[in-house]
This record gives sequence, structure tokens and C-alpha cells, in this order.
Amino acid sequence: MLPQEIIKAKRDGKTLTREQIAYFVQGITNGKVTNEQIGAFAMAVYFNGMAMPERVALTEEMMNSGRVVSWDGFDLPGPIVDKHSTGGVSDSVSLMLGPMVAACGGYVPMIAGRGLGHTGGTLDKFESIPGYNIQPSQEDFQRIVKEIGVAIIGQTAEIAPADKRFYSIRDVTATVDSIPLITASILSKKLSAGLESLAMDVKTGNGAFMTSLDDSRALANSIVAVANGAGVKTSATITDMNQALGDTAGNATEMREAIEYLTGVRRNPRLHEVTMTLCGQMLLLSGIARTKDEAEFKLNQVLDNGKAAEVFGKMVHALGGPADFLENWQGYLPKAPVVMPVYADTPGYISEVATRELGLVVVTLGGGRSNPSDAIDHAVGLTDIQQIGTYVDSERPLAFIHARDEVSAAAAAVELKASIALSENLPKLDPVVYETIS
Ligand code: URA
Repeated sequence: MLPQEIIKAKRDGKTLTREQIAYFVQGITNGKVTNEQIGAFAMAVYFNGMAMPERVALTEEMMNSGRVVSWDGFDLPGPIVDKHSTGGVSDSVSLMLGPMVAACGGYVPMIAGRGLGHTGGTLDKFESIPGYNIQPSQEDFQRIVKEIGVAIIGQTAEIAPADKRFYSIRDVTATVDSIPLITASILSKKLSAGLESLAMDVKTGNGAFMTSLDDSRALANSIVAVANGAGVKTSATITDMNQALGDTAGNATEMREAIEYLTGVRRNPRLHEVTMTLCGQMLLLSGIARTKDEAEFKLNQVLDNGKAAEVFGKMVHALGGPADFLENWQGYLPKAPVVMPVYADTPGYISEVATRELGLVVVTLGGGRSNPSDAIDHAVGLTDIQQIGTYVDSERPLAFIHARDEVSAAAAAVELKASIALSENLPKLDPVVYETIS
């Protein structure tokens, strides 16, 4: 078999066999296929697509290019289940969801990512906790999942190395936005945690990877078909990203929102709806609940009786964070020296948010990355972000900026104001959860 023959077959619109796909992926992993050939292959897929069996084969072969976690011999008394989001602004769902589902009897081995560009990353949020180790040994990771029910950690180089090389070449050959390739890329990494079921959150809107509802639906359908084809029970929920999801954006700021959510101090209704929907999907897919009502009941129970918060605290400690983090988080999370309200120039209803640009305000403050290797400031970010439909004036700010200094706060304030449009009348509100595909 020759790589150029496989590229030619895809270029000519043919359906590739499992053997051809396996051969090509092995070549990506062991270096026998060149960067030029990988770029050409990606472009052929970009134009000619892939049938579902090809997507399943690509996903499985990329997943098997690295380490796949096995739970054989662990005797977990509950189902292994996880969630993945395509990424957004102010999306702290994973921080609450993992402990909530674990408190209901699920086992959640969550391998999470860092933020890049305008989107935040779960790992960066956890790294705002002093001592939290995102890279425990494989043994510790599995032991913590077994003992506590959840561990949220980072990806290692051993996970889907074929995707790492393939993605870096797609990134420079204008072939990232191909639904078969996105599907295989996301799932090859996610399924390597040895999952039995998966709830996907596919964001849609101007702050999402997929901006139109049609594209988000196509990606959701592809992910559901491929993951189920690979033997993992999966649903995909399409959720709104035409504004920040919660009240905060940043790292320590979102951690604070998550703790306040888990301890019942404050729950932003949009964030709550998405969290409950995705947790509900995880309980339904994994068989912990039989109906939506039962799932909701169980989730409310672990929020109300403090069990979800307790699991969160135990996980933080097991991964190296302070034992009393949940009680004394205010003393542990880093605080920015400058906290500044930002007011609109004229009063009105918030009618539109340029969500990508809003996310970039956090990058301007130093809380996000332009390059994967950039260091970040965990303390900075936004709080009290007002949502579409809220009336803002000289009393109610658009948000509070948390900055390292006055200069970066002033620059961020200009960007923040530019990202928010106001109207005289109450605007039409979009739903926060559009639909679930299963
Ligand atoms: N996220 C991924 O992990 N891969 C893609 O291809 C796109 C988004």
C-alpha cells in the first residue's frame, strides 16, 4: 500500500477501507507519511467527505495510535461516563458536572483541555487552585476515579498522538473545518478514556467553533453516529453560544462561580439549564436514571444535600489541592489587584454580544492564550457579566473587570464595551438549549 494511492482514492471520491485508513494513520504516527501527504489527504477529505464507516475507522485508528485507558479489573460499581464541549466563553459546566454525576453514582474520568484563543479551558480553571496536579500518574488517575467517582486531569502526549500531528497540519492547511475530521479528532481523544457513554455539548453561535445552527447540527449528528458506531452510547446537545454562558469568564473567576453553584450561593439560570441538561443526559445514557424527571430529581438531591460539593472538594484534595478548599476557597484562589466596573456609554437593553470578542477580553487581560505555549494569569477575568435582555445604565455595569493593572483594565474595558450592543427595546431571547440528538 502507498500513501499516495490512498490520497488518490479519496481525491477521486472513493470510500476508503478500514485497512487503508489504518495504514495511513500508522504512517502519521510513525512518521512514514510526510507532512505534504497528510495535508493532501486532509484536503481530499475536506472536499469529498467521509462515509460514517470511514469516520468510525479514522476515529478508532487515531484513538489506538496511543494509550487507551482500560478499566478491566477495576470492578467499578457504576457506569463510566463523560461529557465534552466543543468550547465556548464562560463555560464552567465541567467543573460542576463531573462531581454532580459522580455524586449520583457515575464514574467520570475526564481528560480535559486548555483554553486557546477566545475559549476557556477546564484545565486552566483547575490550575487556579494551588497544588492541583493536572498530570497525575495513570495509576493515581484511575485510583481517584474509583475512590471518588471523578478526576479531571490533562491530556498527555500518549493520548492519540496521530491526532496531535494530524491536527497541527490541518491547522496550517485550512482543513480544520471538515466535519469528518473534527469528529475523528474530538472522539479519538475523548474515547481513549475507556468510556461507556458520552454526552456531547455542541455549541452554536458567534462564540462557538460552529457558528450556524445547521453546521452545529451536522457536527452533532456526525459525532453521535460515529461514537455510537464505535460502541459508546452518545448524545449531542446543541447549546447557545451567542453570549457568555454564565456570570464570569476567566480562570479563578469561573472557579469561584462553580463553587458558588455547587454550594447553592448563586446559580446563573442559563448555566444551570445547560449543566442540568448535560448531567441529565449522562444519567440517562448511562442508565443511572430512566427518565428526565428521575435524572433531575437525583441531580437536585446531590446539589441540595451537599454531596456534589463534597465530591468536588475530595477530588481537589486527591489531586493535590488543599483539603479545606471548599470551605476556604476565598483564601486560596488568586485575586486580581484591580477590580473595575465597566458601564455602557448610554443606557439600554443588551441586545447582542460579540461572544468571540468578549472571550478575547480575557486574553487581553492575560487570562487566555494566543499560542499554546503562552503562560496565563489565573486571577484576571470578568465577573457579573450581564446577559442579553438586561437593562444596563449608570447604576448597573456591563461587567466587572479583574485586571493585573490599570492599563490592562482600561484596554479591556474598551474591548468589552465594543463587544456589547444595546437597544431601546427588550430584544428577542434565544433559547439556551436548542435540541438533543441521540
Ligand atoms: N477540537 C478538536 O479537538 N479537534 C478538532 O478538529 C476541532 C476542535
